[in-house]
Amino acid sequence: MERRHPGNGRALTRQVLLLSLLSFTCWAASEQIHYSAPEEMAKGSVVGNLAKELGLSTKELKHRNLHTVSVAKMQHFSINAENGNLYVNDRIDREGICGKNPNCFVQFEVVVENPLNVFHVTVEIQDVNDNAPQFLNSNINLEILESTLPSTRFLLGKAEDPDIGMNSLQDYQLSSNQYFTLEVRERKDGNKYAELVLQKSLDREKEQTLHLVLTAMDGGTPRKTGIAHVRINITDANDNPPIFTQEVYKVSLSENAPIGSTVIQVIASDEDEGSYAQIRYYFSNIPADFRLKFRLDPVNGAITLLDPLDFEETEKYTMMVTAKDGGGLLTHCNIEITVLDENDNAPEVTLASMFSPVPEDSLPGTVIALINVNDKDNGDNGKVTCYLNDDLPFKVLPSSNNYFKLQTDSPLDREIAPAYNITITATDRGTPPLSTHKTISLQISDINDNAPTFQKPSYNIYVPENNPSGASIFTIKASDPDMDQNSRITYSILNSNIEELPISSYISINSETGTIYAQRSFDYEQFREFQLQVKAQDGGSPPLSSNVTARIFVLDRNDNSPRILSPSQEAKGSSLFEMVPRTAEADYLVTKVVAVDADSGHNAWLSYHLTQATEPALFTVGSHTGEIRTARAFVERDAVKQRLVIMVKDNGQPSLSATITLNLVFAENFQEALPEMKSQPSSSEYQSDLQFYLVLALAVISFLFLLTVILAVTMKLRQSGHPRFLQCFGPVPHSKNGAIFPPNFEDGTLPYSYQLCLSSETRKNEFAFLTPNVQIADNIIGSEKPGVLFTGNGGNNLISEMANDEKVGFIPEYFSLHAA
Ligand SMILES: *[C@@H]1O[C@H](CO)[C@@H](O)[C@H](O)[C@H]1NC(C)=O
Ligand SMILES: *[C@@H]1O[C@H](CO)[C@@H](O)[C@H](O)[C@H]1NC(C)=O
Repeated sequence: MERRHPGNGRALTRQVLLLSLLSFTCWAASEQIHYSAPEEMAKGSVVGNLAKELGLSTKELKHRNLHTVSVAKMQHFSINAENGNLYVNDRIDREGICGKNPNCFVQFEVVVENPLNVFHVTVEIQDVNDNAPQFLNSNINLEILESTLPSTRFLLGKAEDPDIGMNSLQDYQLSSNQYFTLEVRERKDGNKYAELVLQKSLDREKEQTLHLVLTAMDGGTPRKTGIAHVRINITDANDNPPIFTQEVYKVSLSENAPIGSTVIQVIASDEDEGSYAQIRYYFSNIPADFRLKFRLDPVNGAITLLDPLDFEETEKYTMMVTAKDGGGLLTHCNIEITVLDENDNAPEVTLASMFSPVPEDSLPGTVIALINVNDKDNGDNGKVTCYLNDDLPFKVLPSSNNYFKLQTDSPLDREIAPAYNITITATDRGTPPLSTHKTISLQISDINDNAPTFQKPSYNIYVPENNPSGASIFTIKASDPDMDQNSRITYSILNSNIEELPISSYISINSETGTIYAQRSFDYEQFREFQLQVKAQDGGSPPLSSNVTARIFVLDRNDNSPRILSPSQEAKGSSLFEMVPRTAEADYLVTKVVAVDADSGHNAWLSYHLTQATEPALFTVGSHTGEIRTARAFVERDAVKQRLVIMVKDNGQPSLSATITLNLVFAENFQEALPEMKSQPSSSEYQSDLQFYLVLALAVISFLFLLTVILAVTMKLRQSGHPRFLQCFGPVPHSKNGAIFPPNFEDGTLPYSYQLCLSSETRKNEFAFLTPNVQIADNIIGSEKPGVLFTGNGGNNLISEMANDEKVGFIPEYFSLHAA
């Protein structure tokens, strides 16, 4: 194999020359031997024959003892001492021995003895392409931003090939791809490295990673290659804006959707990754009040309701939502929320106008009120009908749009119903329907359509006689169901059946109260009844009136004393003498006292009593007949002159009486009796004188009293300076009212009388202070006929005594009525 290459041969020659020069200087008898051998020769291969180089034959070799002295350097080679061959002893790795040094020599010394000679052997190790290029890092990872501009370069790792020359790294190649080309560059030291050059924009969203293979090649034959895997991670740039799933979101929502319910959810997506894909949502350009209604979740895009919706307020909401990714890219979408109407508004009822009060004589069909009805809802939810709840004389009719009129349906009567509460119900047609109630208070005004009515069809009024003048005897009452002036009743007396005097001198009526006053004291003994028409008239215009008949019955009272008719009396109440025959038997009728009483009934029921007698046992008086009879025969010891006092008593309460004194003379004839009659007892004359003086004294005192009163009144009037009209009522009948007078006080014999003088102002007043208020309940004494009342137990007490009391109530069952 040696000297095969011409280059090797030239080098050998040059080296031999050089070694020769060195041998001359250092080694006197040294020679240079030069071999050339490729690395990696198999073990035992012959590199050259040293004997032949040295010109020694095989025989010579045996005793020349060829061997090497540089044992330490002789690991790769061995020398065969018998044939002089240089063998490869061990693996020869040029790169291991010389590294990158292109001239690689192994040098050692060979010695031959007999004579000793030293030779320098140089074995040049030739390079063989036994190493492939190798990348230091066979996995190259690159991170490249997708937004990187084309023609940007990226350094790749370099590969190394320990071989030299052409066997070393010569070139790089890149697997085919559309984004990158490879550029191989050489450093000053001859090392080659590769760079990636971006040819075209990357898109992470299309391809996130690229796998390339970089191949490094040497120039040996055959070529050896080494590869590295280039993994390019394309990193994200925010190159994609968020995109909504819809450009316009439309949703319909019931207006009573609950608060917090989700209206709609907008969704936007972003193809970028990481924060560039993190989308936040927000409203853009929406009115402030929308923000109070809706809430947009910034993270998930859900729109929820914050505040109740109201179709009547807003029917539609349009708004814009913006989605923004983490890199600041924006997209918008539109949202349309349509509010659907629900029947959530009850009709509103307002009273447009009202005519109240309404006269009760209004004709059916009179409009009372105009009602405006309004429902904010839409469609059927807003259609309203009206009706009345109760059965009232009214009806509701639709008028023009949204108006209803309330009108009367039948005649009204204020006296039956003075006011109405009319409840109007307005209902819409929603499901469920909503209603509103409205109550109208209607007043009915009065019309004078009712005449006064008396409480009774007729009145019977009983007045005990001797009533004080001016006493109220009864009150007639009429009523009128109308109102105010229409029910203000005035009473008046229309006429009467009394012809002689005007009725006003008997009776007057208080026009306001209906109280009837007696204008004079009635005397039962003069007249017993009369009747009159009382009219009641209301104050309406025109006024209405009605009349009633009132009958007034005068009741008897025991105001008359019995009057003795016979025997005839002298003025002083004692009769003339009666003669009684001496021979008169027992039960002889001496005389009969006859008396009458102007009263009637019990008041006129007389009884006779013997009150004084000279000889009481001698006479009897028939208590009912008034007959005076002898009780026994006259005897001598009896006085001839007998004096009897007979009292006649009526049965009134209190009873009134009269007395008569009878002078009886027992005689056989008139002549015999005459002297007895003449000798009148002087006592009676004395008595009459006394009476005369008494009467005279009373008259004088009365006169003086009256004079004083008149003077006092006159003085008083003068002092006041305003003399008032004095009205004097005629002499009042003797005040027999309840008072008991002596029986001999006849009419006209009362020693004094008085006048009643009143100021005209006070005339209207009742003289209650003067008059016992005698009034007999009309409804108790039901008889038309004047009668006398007895107590039911048949007692003698006449009811007319009640006149003494101020007022007496009667209980019917205790009384029975007897015709007088
Ligand atoms: C109407 O209603 C008022 C108040 O509730 C009540 O005082 C009045 O008595 C009622 N009137 C009628 C006629 O029902
Ligand atoms: C009294 O009333 C009757 C009917 O009740 C009537 O016919 C008569 O005319 C009235 N009299 C007067 C005077 O008004």
